Amino acid sequence: MAMPVSAPSLGERLRVTPTGGGIGAEIAGIDLRTLDEGDFAAIRRAFVAQSVLLFRGQRLGDDDLIAFSRRFGPLDWAPVQENGRRFVEGKPEIYIVSNVIENGVAIGSLGAGEAVWHTDMSYLEDPPMASMLYAIEVPAKGGNTGFCNMYSAYEALPAELKRRAEGLRIKHDGTYNSGGYLRAGVAASDDPRTSPGAVHPLVCTHPESGRRCLYLGRRRNAYLVGLELAESEALLDALWSCATRDEFTWYNSWRPGDLVLWDNRCTMHRRDPFDPASRRIMHRTQIKGAERPAA
Ligand code: SIN
Repeated sequence: MAMPVSAPSLGERLRVTPTGGGIGAEIAGIDLRTLDEGDFAAIRRAFVAQSVLLFRGQRLGDDDLIAFSRRFGPLDWAPVQENGRRFVEGKPEIYIVSNVIENGVAIGSLGAGEAVWHTDMSYLEDPPMASMLYAIEVPAKGGNTGFCNMYSAYEALPAELKRRAEGLRIKHDGTYNSGGYLRAGVAASDDPRTSPGAVHPLVCTHPESGRRCLYLGRRRNAYLVGLELAESEALLDALWSCATRDEFTWYNSWRPGDLVLWDNRCTMHRRDPFDPASRRIMHRTQIKGAERPAA
């Protein structure tokens, strides 16, 4: 007699495999267009536990990407692109990261050069808590995206640096994007004390995991409020040299159909340059944070 086969219980069909790097896990066995409540609850738990999640082999249109993103909460509008436009007509949530030029106009931001370590939109008072990046076209070589574990970065600080970081507040610059391009409508500035941006605690407590992490944002024009500029620069250099050590990072080597979701509250990311003659098209969404970053 055949044994009765029980249906997989809520979230059970998901396979979560750590990347083996300093952060993140891959989730297999799931189509993000057809998630039930149990699948989503399991993904939500994995997101908080792993900080970065990779889903391969997806087939998402912009509406699918927006729908999956919205399960985490309301979405932020994308930053204005480098030429002052939002690109996806009627879909202001979608930020296009691309080097492709069509009819003489860039279809997205960040070109083909390096994008330096950063946290998305932390130059705002209420930055997004998470972002999702979906790969549509990728180059054969280069353009990998690295993620850095800011819990590990904080925990590994020498005791003296940890002590000095405690209670400080940091300005996250809003002048330049991670590709080094001036943001639309902003005056160029290289004085971190006066450049536009938002001030956040340098060491934050993650509102869901309760763990402490460094919250650096990006290096250019960062400023530790209240310190002499030279002191701020020296302390930031010391913190950055500890923060982005290889053992805290993991890189995704993109395939079309990859979706990576990351927690902006406890990670940074960067992108390797790639051949400008090749094409790379990625669509990103940003999920609103329920709370401001707090110590
Ligand atoms: C981003 O900074 O959100 C884009 C990273 C990438 O192009 O891989």
